Amino acid sequence: MGKLVCEIVILFSMVMATATVHGITEDPKAVEKWFEKLTHLKQKLTKFHLYHHDILGGKNSTSIQVAGFNVSAKSPFLFGLINMFDDKLTLRPNITSKQLGWAQGMYGASSLEEASNFITMNLVFTDEKYNGSTLALLGRDPVFDQYREMSIVGGTGFFRLARGIATASTYSFNTTSTNAVLEFHVIVSHY
Ligand SMILES: *[C@@H]1O[C@H](CO)[C@@H](O)[C@H](O)[C@H]1NC(C)=O
Ligand SMILES: *[C@@H]1O[C@H](CO)[C@@H](O)[C@H](O)[C@H]1NC(C)=O
Ligand SMILES: *[C@@H]1O[C@H](CO)[C@@H](O)[C@H](O)[C@H]1NC(C)=O
Ligand SMILES: *[C@@H]1O[C@H](CO)[C@@H](O)[C@H](O)[C@H]1NC(C)=O
Ligand SMILES: *[C@@H]1O[C@H](CO)[C@@H](O)[C@H](O)[C@H]1NC(C)=O
Repeated sequence: MGKLVCEIVILFSMVMATATVHGITEDPKAVEKWFEKLTHLKQKLTKFHLYHHDILGGKNSTSIQVAGFNVSAKSPFLFGLINMFDDKLTLRPNITSKQLGWAQGMYGASSLEEASNFITMNLVFTDEKYNGSTLALLGRDPVFDQYREMSIVGGTGFFRLARGIATASTYSFNTTSTNAVLEFHVIVSHY
């Protein structure tokens, strides 16, 4: 228990206001009430750090190509290739470490001139009090850059009205399987 609490503190080293934590899935009336008292709610800042495992091959694949590209076309950067994924988010780089949730969405090669993806996904949390809450991420991922800054454009549950930044970097990349582990540092303000 002590270890778990400690991990959560590291993960969500947050500045918490004492505002009541609203339920994760509420009916529309409750959501409306929440909005009505929004002006009295304190803005919170939450920071966390996690690893995203994009597994393309083998039995445990969680990322699949859903749209092709014309291989005989000129782009050497697989322009047009689109993957949809339901990838694991974990606390540590090892995929067998504590799972914090799922990254569910799509990425696609969106540049004719460099290796760069657009990425759109929900970070779906399953851990502890964040269970059921989501963050919506929209970003550009020039995969060879050391740091890729992406937008957090919204959130639900614990993260209502979230806005923030996710900074991605490649933790590891297997050139044979093309599996990738991305490291994310996320900072969001929300209510
Ligand atoms: C697939 O996942 C199972 C259960 O986690 C694991 O035992 C197995 O080694 C994995 N297989 C591969 C090829 O990674
Ligand atoms: C793929 O691109 C080539 C070269 O631009 C073109 O000739 C060919 O018709 C395209 N094939 C398809 C299936 O679109
Ligand atoms: C991940 O953890 C498992 C079990 O905890 C271990 O067997 C495996 O070697 C680790 N993998 C890496 C790449 O560290
Ligand atoms: C998260 O919520 C789901 C659905 O409400 C529940 O089935 C699951 O046990 C919860 N997980 C944890 C770790 O509390
Ligand atoms: C990279 O992927 C290949 C093919 O799946 C696998 O055989 C190899 O062990 C992987 N390398 C590492 C370092 O995980």
